[in-house]
Amino acid sequence: MRTEQPKTIYLKDYQAPEYLIDETHLSFELHEDRTLVHARLAMRRNPARGAGLPPLVLDGQQLELLSVVLDDRELGAHEYQVDDSHLTLQPPQAEFVVETRVCIHPESNTALEGLYKSGRMFCTQCEAEGFRKITYYLDRPDVMSRFTTTLSAEQQRYPVLLSNGNPVASGSADNGRHWATWEDPFRKPAYLFALVAGDLWCVEDEFTTMSGRNVALRIYVEPENIDKCQHAMDSLKRSMRWDEEAYGREYDLDIFMIVAVNDFNMGAMENKGLNIFNSSAVLAKAETATDAAHQRVEAIVAHEYFHNWSGNRVTCRDWFQLSLKEGFTVFRDAGFSADMNSATVKRIEDVAYLRTHQFAEDAGPMAHSVRPDSYMEISNFYTLTVYEKGSEVVGMLRTLLGAEGFRQGSDLYFQRHDGQAVTCDDFIKAMEDANGVDLTQFKRWYGQAGTPRLEVAEQYDAKAGTCTLTFRQSCPPTPGQAHKEPLVIPVALALLDGQGRELPLRLAGEGEAAGTSRVLAVNAAEQSFTFEGIPEQPLPSLLRGFSAPVKLVYPYSRDQLMFLMQHDSDGFNRWEAGQQLAVQVLQELVGQHQRGESLVLDRRLLVALKSVLENQSLDQAMVAEMLSLPGEAYLIEISAVADVVAIHAAREFARREIASALYEPLWQRYQANRELSRQSPYVASAEHFARRALQNIALSYLMLSERPEVLAACQDQYQATDNMTERLAALAVLVNSPFEAEKTEALVLFADYFQDDPLVMDQWFGVQAGCPLPGGLERVQALMEHPAFTLKNPNKVRALIGAFANQNHVNFHRADGQGYRFLADQVIMLNALNPQIAARQLAPLTRWRKYDASRQALMKAELERILASGELSGDVYEVVSKSLV
Ligand code: ARG
Ligand code: ZN
Repeated sequence: MRTEQPKTIYLKDYQAPEYLIDETHLSFELHEDRTLVHARLAMRRNPARGAGLPPLVLDGQQLELLSVVLDDRELGAHEYQVDDSHLTLQPPQAEFVVETRVCIHPESNTALEGLYKSGRMFCTQCEAEGFRKITYYLDRPDVMSRFTTTLSAEQQRYPVLLSNGNPVASGSADNGRHWATWEDPFRKPAYLFALVAGDLWCVEDEFTTMSGRNVALRIYVEPENIDKCQHAMDSLKRSMRWDEEAYGREYDLDIFMIVAVNDFNMGAMENKGLNIFNSSAVLAKAETATDAAHQRVEAIVAHEYFHNWSGNRVTCRDWFQLSLKEGFTVFRDAGFSADMNSATVKRIEDVAYLRTHQFAEDAGPMAHSVRPDSYMEISNFYTLTVYEKGSEVVGMLRTLLGAEGFRQGSDLYFQRHDGQAVTCDDFIKAMEDANGVDLTQFKRWYGQAGTPRLEVAEQYDAKAGTCTLTFRQSCPPTPGQAHKEPLVIPVALALLDGQGRELPLRLAGEGEAAGTSRVLAVNAAEQSFTFEGIPEQPLPSLLRGFSAPVKLVYPYSRDQLMFLMQHDSDGFNRWEAGQQLAVQVLQELVGQHQRGESLVLDRRLLVALKSVLENQSLDQAMVAEMLSLPGEAYLIEISAVADVVAIHAAREFARREIASALYEPLWQRYQANRELSRQSPYVASAEHFARRALQNIALSYLMLSERPEVLAACQDQYQATDNMTERLAALAVLVNSPFEAEKTEALVLFADYFQDDPLVMDQWFGVQAGCPLPGGLERVQALMEHPAFTLKNPNKVRALIGAFANQNHVNFHRADGQGYRFLADQVIMLNALNPQIAARQLAPLTRWRKYDASRQALMKAELERILASGELSGDVYEVVSKSLV
């Protein structure tokens, strides 16, 4: 906590460390009321910084310093300086050993950063700057050291003692305590340090790497969760194999461990050899986790595993380079998920997520580039931009270089920088060198914030048989960046003839057509490309597979969009055409609502959806995606001024129209799939995910009819199922329905049955928090009092407060501002408990510029109230102050 304003750190001020740490020996004495940490650091002057011996400044926060020893001599208090964030002393010569003893209090650490207790277990979260809350250190990623860690704890309460690397020794002491020593042979920055002590069970397996080494795999969980580990274990083995095949990356230690903890700020953490996971990102079984949760577990297990190379073996020089590991690793896990399930559906989900949430971030007060120029609190920069847009930037490189060129570039990157802490520029350089190309202009994607707009115009010349595409790119100003330079935008495209066939594509000056689908590298503010030998007026299919994170603007008519929905050979663009058609239709309804007219739906949307629904050869997951209307959050994002009430009314009206017009085909497909669900036990596979996705979206439409046979089917699906996917979907549909008695009964039964499973209770909170029916705020306020709710658990906060503020737009944005007041109250309380979570929950209030004048005033007033509420953490201060500028 602080009262004074936190300092801004700039990338341009980066300097290499003055000192290096060759060896780090840590020993932890874990007790119920304190933990003693002894650190022995073998250090030396960094030769790259010259010969002199400036003072050594170690980072350290919230540490009670007990003693300092320099080269085996205990220092007197006058021989060092301590303040609330540093320990400073004078090294006697270029090589020396510093030892510190500190006392810390994991038992009262509610920020969940550094060493803390989750339930009965000790665990750590050090990224980005948590290690300094454990001991005095050079807590920066370019200081890499070999770690040896000894932990001791009471044997009975903490039979399992884990740290990074390989176990090398253990034993018991006579006072009921025991100890273990772990040695990590790989040099690593402190943010990858981890420690766990607890009463844990583990599921064991093994993996033989491509060079024939055996690796022991262990997933540690609290005993009651031992039956929920198999899916994560299978996912881990698939990830290990995939990284060998897709990137040539082999695992490097003899053991790989995952530990599930209930209280965790993020999804998971890639600590070397000892990944620590939010239990929601590892535990999954049919009865308690939905299909979406199963897929999330698979993706996060892969993500953290892939970090072993993209992050650990090659790490970041400084935190401005965060996307070097995160953007690349998200790109890698997306490739894995695409290969494990449906690639098109994975792309659709990722793009919908990016356009809804990252585009909103990029248009808001916290907009920053993929490689930010400055920050106050680095925790605030674990963002959609760094992760998701960062992944898109890597994806564009692959599109431009081709799969093979990209692989050569990644091979060179890993080989050249193994064991180093490097920058985004080093990544680009490896891509350039492996491919003999110049990516200077491409690098602007790392430095420029904001979502580019790409306008395309088409001109067909029948006489000449040419089709000219003219591209105009622009990018709106973002905080600190008034003016933007043109980017390299890869545009994958095809030209379709009247039958929907792709035409051969030959640019003016080319001898032969280079296929029927190609990538244009658009790199000027305005640029034209002319295709020759085009026999008829074509319809362009643009930005296929969403080949760049831009807002594409092309004047498609609704009939053209219907044509693309039917005929585009790019699956992503077929879905996209349907979305754009729905956007046009919904925006028309929004206008009607605002003018007080009665709503009239363009029947073409119904015709299009009917043909999708009746197409038995289409992947069912695609059918489900195409039946899903653009979400309210996306409709808000693309509005200049978002009218939340009109958007909700328009979308609900359209859903009802679809439900009544398509009742028969929806009911048929629902029943067919429900029958399959009844007949076969749950399987977590793409085909089954697809079947249930269609079944559940069909049910959500059908229920709008309020017919008794649908209510009965819904109740049956709620009760008679072996899996959470069907049960939760039925519960959500009931909760959003007008059947008060039935929904109450289902909610009570559910909570009764699952009260001891916190992850299932999160889903129960989430379904209610997202319900748009009137009275949403009051329902959420009542749920805050439920015995299963606590502000101290981030998953609970996200499930109830986060779902309300981010998904329940009509209730959160109620005109009297009470939704905003509620969120601000929670942020003020969270600020004192867990600054990282507090700062994240704030995001919806920072988007105040999107709404009408009255809501803007109410939202700003709440931000100002937070700012004036007393001692603010740096995390909350940064977000609030920047969003009020
Ligand atoms: N590196 C972790 C991951 O991608 C996230 C750690 C985030 N930590 C934080 N303090 N924000 O998967
Ligand atoms: Zn990551």
